[in-house]
Amino acid sequence: MSLKQKTSDLKKRMRGALQGGGQQAIEKQKAGGKMTARERIIALLDPKSFHEYDLFVEHAGKDFDMDKKYLPGDGVITGTGTISGYPVCIYAQDFTVAGGSLGWMHSKKICKIMDHAMKLKVPLIGINDSGGARIQEGVNSLAGYGEIFYRNTQASGVIPQISVILGPCAGGAVYSPALTDFVFVVDKISKMFITGPEVIKTVLGEEISMEDLGGARVHAEITGNAHFFAESEDECFAQIKELVSYIPWNNEKKAEPFPKKPPRIRTYKIENIIPEDPKQPYDVRDVIRSISDDSEFLEVMELFAQNIVIGFARMGGETVGFVANQPLVLAGVLDVDSSDKAARFIRFCNAFNIPLVTLVDLPGYLPGVDQEHAGVIRHGAKVLYAYSEATVPKITVILRKAYGGGYIAMCSTHLKADFVFAWPVAEIAVMGPEGAANIIFRAEINSAENPEAMRRQKIKEYKKKFANPYVAAAYGYVDAVIEPPDTRAFVIHALDISAGKSVQRPSKKHGIPPF
Ligand code: HXC
Repeated sequence: MSLKQKTSDLKKRMRGALQGGGQQAIEKQKAGGKMTARERIIALLDPKSFHEYDLFVEHAGKDFDMDKKYLPGDGVITGTGTISGYPVCIYAQDFTVAGGSLGWMHSKKICKIMDHAMKLKVPLIGINDSGGARIQEGVNSLAGYGEIFYRNTQASGVIPQISVILGPCAGGAVYSPALTDFVFVVDKISKMFITGPEVIKTVLGEEISMEDLGGARVHAEITGNAHFFAESEDECFAQIKELVSYIPWNNEKKAEPFPKKPPRIRTYKIENIIPEDPKQPYDVRDVIRSISDDSEFLEVMELFAQNIVIGFARMGGETVGFVANQPLVLAGVLDVDSSDKAARFIRFCNAFNIPLVTLVDLPGYLPGVDQEHAGVIRHGAKVLYAYSEATVPKITVILRKAYGGGYIAMCSTHLKADFVFAWPVAEIAVMGPEGAANIIFRAEINSAENPEAMRRQKIKEYKKKFANPYVAAAYGYVDAVIEPPDTRAFVIHALDISAGKSVQRPSKKHGIPPF
């Protein structure tokens, strides 16, 4: 055959492989409001940047007449490309081919692109849309999942790993996304569960729809398995692009700097955000936007455990991770879910050289039987561990309340924050004035002629003595008491001078955080 004939043969083979599961399956995919796997990759990556590999890989199934079947690309598309110029490795399961089910060669393709991502030290993006383990391939599909989970774990903290759930992701398959750093879901399209409605009905007699069991909202609001929720696939890809702009390619790099931009202070004026009355809530995201570059903030896990706010912003052009109590929800307390949410984010930032900016306003850990029995001790300890372990620059601003364990946990100087600033309205104490006065002045209040008047007087005394930032400042636990409008300047200066921070930890295989 001449080169021309061989080229035409190549093109014919490519056409065959590129047809995926065929027109009928593609139409079914589209009828469900879903893009095809290849369309998804093209929509996410920079135009013309996608290079596909292993297009001609064939499946290895022999049983149940599988040897007579042709599964183009074995149901998964893999390759490399760029997002806003940043290199990424990517795979997308093709539901039109045998339901995107994972057979041995399918898993080998995924593992190969994961190995590339580790060698090249670039982020890995996995688009999941699959019926799970390919039933006809039996234990080989289980082996394939095991190989993927192992690689997810090795890659953890080395390269950012992003999972996008754009279809079913069921059974053991859910554990690959769960091992990655960020999980994206799309309303009405994403479905994640260990055992589906059928099994639940058979085993427990309970009836539930797939959507109510493991739909996008469930994972974004209730389980905390998803980090980003979108209404459409296009919105989801826009979110991924934004996230990639904030994070570095790998753990040896810093995130790419951007040109510095002042906040849009006309919209966000810091001194107008916090109410005079310390009992009045406010939205801490307004404080973040009043100090971040261009008032931009990419919130992570926006719908889950809303009593804490986490996310990325830039200050002076550099990416920072914000962790902030949210007075709007449960007065910003730490509880089981908010502790989990914050701790994992802190560890991501630390692994990827992203400085942490912590904004404090909380009355402490949430009291109650439910919380105690749900393990608030174990979960709450994760925050202490994550902050203590972190060696990136750590800057803390105490906005208002910093009581009890909450004061310590929210990156206090004792957990080795590099700089702690406090606003003049900060109240740093063991507990709130009302509760404290009731306990330490109980005898005086009870024996007073007018107990209520005495109680008010004692609360006032306590407030004067302790409900301020100056006692902590007198011990050096607060580095500077600052005026709110100066916050951005103080934080940026602290970040600038911490740029060369280097901390040695005792040598160990790994710590044992309270997982
Ligand atoms: C082989 C599969 C498959 C699978 C789907 N298909 N799942 N083939 N193995 N696991 C095939 C179907 O036979 C069909 O092929 C095509 O994909 C499309 O599937 P449909 O059922 O027509 O699609 P839909 O109605 O949209 O339903 C999607 C679905 C359903 C809900 C995902 O297919 C389903 O329930 N699949 C089985 C899910 C499952 O139980 N997986 C095993 C989980 S256990 P044709 O040829 O007809 O087009 C597991 C263990 C992993 O994953 C453990 C790792 C540690």
